[in-house]
Amino acid sequence: MVDINTQNFESILKQKGFLDFDLDPSLDLFSEIEKLKKEKNAIILAHYYQEPDIQDVADFIGDSLGLAQKAAQTDAAIIVFAGVHFMAETAKILNPTKKVLLPDLNAGCSLSDSAPPAIFKTFKDKHPDHLVISYINCSAGMKALSDIICTSSNAQKIVESLPKDQKIIFAPDKNLGAYINKQTGRNMLLWNGTCMVHEIFSLEKITKLKLRHPKAKVLAHPECEDAVLAVADFVGSTTGILKYSKASDCNEFIVATEAGILHQMQKESPSKTFIPAPPNNSCACNDCPYMKFNTLEKLYLCMKYELPEITMDETLRLEAKKPIDRMLKISAKYGL
Ligand code: 13P
Ligand code: SF4
Repeated sequence: MVDINTQNFESILKQKGFLDFDLDPSLDLFSEIEKLKKEKNAIILAHYYQEPDIQDVADFIGDSLGLAQKAAQTDAAIIVFAGVHFMAETAKILNPTKKVLLPDLNAGCSLSDSAPPAIFKTFKDKHPDHLVISYINCSAGMKALSDIICTSSNAQKIVESLPKDQKIIFAPDKNLGAYINKQTGRNMLLWNGTCMVHEIFSLEKITKLKLRHPKAKVLAHPECEDAVLAVADFVGSTTGILKYSKASDCNEFIVATEAGILHQMQKESPSKTFIPAPPNNSCACNDCPYMKFNTLEKLYLCMKYELPEITMDETLRLEAKKPIDRMLKISAKYGL
């Protein structure tokens, strides 16, 4: 049997004899995908970092929390996850009987990779009196070792929901953890993981941009380094950043997160100007290479052939579900 979790999409299709898939360039992928959605009772959930075409064909676009909440509620038979692997995996953990598809299994995450469960377990075992809060950007194996999951939009509330003297390990994002420590006055033990996209914003280039656009507000995701967060006018999740830009009287924004979010920002505020914060390399904006593994063509093929599918060991799934359920419960309590 083909193990679809360990092979890339193209080789799966090759093995299944599907690789005559040179797509007819005249095919209207938008209408074909709409047809497939109806035929198969499928829902497309997309993260804000997906390419604009994918966002435009999605049934729901959101941040990690919104997507997990939507996945927990949907009654569609097939969930097509236009995002990265840990997001599709979370959807599968919440929906064991549904088919969960990810257009390209290579869509991983540097943050998730920075916390291998076996190594983390050794660390955790040295701190038996600590609770483990893990950012949702981690594998099912890491989730199974965690007490509560959080996302960038509920991390602060989740930490604050615990007694002040509760010892906590926060994994895997040290930048988000440090930001929450600052916001809450806690001293959580931080795992040394980072997001490759948010870590390379250039403070120098942002400062120069700010000089050229003195009225622009700097909006930053808490996965950014402390120095970038220190110059931000607003720090929040992708949904938070989107809402802030819509509600603000300001007309110009420098956006320090993955550039995919600019599509919705521009759609929701067409008259405002959004400038992607530049990274520390020769690029003008910052794309997540993992998020961008998904394309409209792969989305279409994945829906047509119902591959690649996310599968999971049931014991692992049940262990990984407990901390996600705790997160959803606390989020509902605070109306997040
Ligand atoms: P949010 O979706 O919580 O804003 O996080 C962004 C991110 O990096 C997802 O991979
Ligand atoms: Fe992971 Fe960063 Fe890409 Fe989000 S943007 S999927 S955290 S590598």
